[in-house]
Amino acid sequence: MNTITIIQPDDWHLHLRDKQALATTVPAATRGFGRGIIMPNLNPPITNVRLANDYRKRILAQRPDGSDWQPLMVLYLTDNTSPDEIHAASESGFIYGCKYYPAGATTNSDSGVTDLNKMHAVFEAMQSVGMVLQMHGEVTSNEIDIFDREAVFIERHLKSLVAEYPSLKIVLEHITTQQGADFVIDAGDNVGASITPQHLIYNRNHMLAGGIRPHLFCLPILKRDIHQQALINAATSGSHKVFLGTDSAPHTQGTKESACGCAGCFSHHAAIELYAEVFDKAGALDKLEAFASTNGPDFYGLPYNQSTIELQKQQWKLPESLPFENTQLIPLGAGTTLNWKLAE
Ligand code: NCD
Ligand code: ZN
Repeated sequence: MNTITIIQPDDWHLHLRDKQALATTVPAATRGFGRGIIMPNLNPPITNVRLANDYRKRILAQRPDGSDWQPLMVLYLTDNTSPDEIHAASESGFIYGCKYYPAGATTNSDSGVTDLNKMHAVFEAMQSVGMVLQMHGEVTSNEIDIFDREAVFIERHLKSLVAEYPSLKIVLEHITTQQGADFVIDAGDNVGASITPQHLIYNRNHMLAGGIRPHLFCLPILKRDIHQQALINAATSGSHKVFLGTDSAPHTQGTKESACGCAGCFSHHAAIELYAEVFDKAGALDKLEAFASTNGPDFYGLPYNQSTIELQKQQWKLPESLPFENTQLIPLGAGTTLNWKLAE
């Protein structure tokens, strides 16, 4: 098999940043994809419909000529989000989800929610209008080890949340553990998960053994190899509960190679190919289309993209660095060789 043709995929979790960054991140995000769920963790964050509309216009201004890629906007939940804002978002026609960041969990999350119990009216409103809740599923308490934060979040918060709002659509974003995969696969059809390429390709040894590799530092942090394998199994199983979400999150080389480096991996230089590599290695290329192109739209209640993409079996070397914000970034898998390439 030397080519694969699949329905055009979508990216259900990505970060484009703002201003000058959009000139590089937007064209990269359109490469191979039909739509992208745009994370709202700007500084200040996208907390209302007006800010989301303005951000969407800035994004569309950078979309390459002839592209019909669509940014699907997201509201950033805070302690002050009102049910009225949820209704306005639902009526806007361009907002497809609301993101829950526990305050302090990750990049630009200082305005995030301090207590899930304060969100009752908002979650009720989301459930009633069918708005998707996208969860950064980690606890932030200092006494909880960073490698346990996702599993503890599921036990302490997610199980009761799912029980309390039985028809609220919830995406456990960027799952990184066996516990995350098991929880989502066993839950009802209103619960799904996105999976990144970095959590499928790497485990914490790649990041920490034989020297620290800051370009593999992302949140939730890479876990041990048994968790990586559980994610590969979930993604390639054909389960409709899991879908592609790169969490592509650019930071400059300098802010990552630092005494206190930023979390996030950029993957839009080769996103679909990085996933194809994982599926090929698992002998599951026939499951790539469900994961990349149909499970996500089915979950969000959206139509599939009309066009297809072709991947060709062809070796190519990923760039060592890419220009970004007057300087550069180091992309995921920099300098490595892949075996599949998007026909462009
Ligand atoms: C993301 C970022 O840089 O915006 N970083 C990351 O490590 N994933 C934030 C996030 O999605 O948690
Ligand atoms: Zn993210």
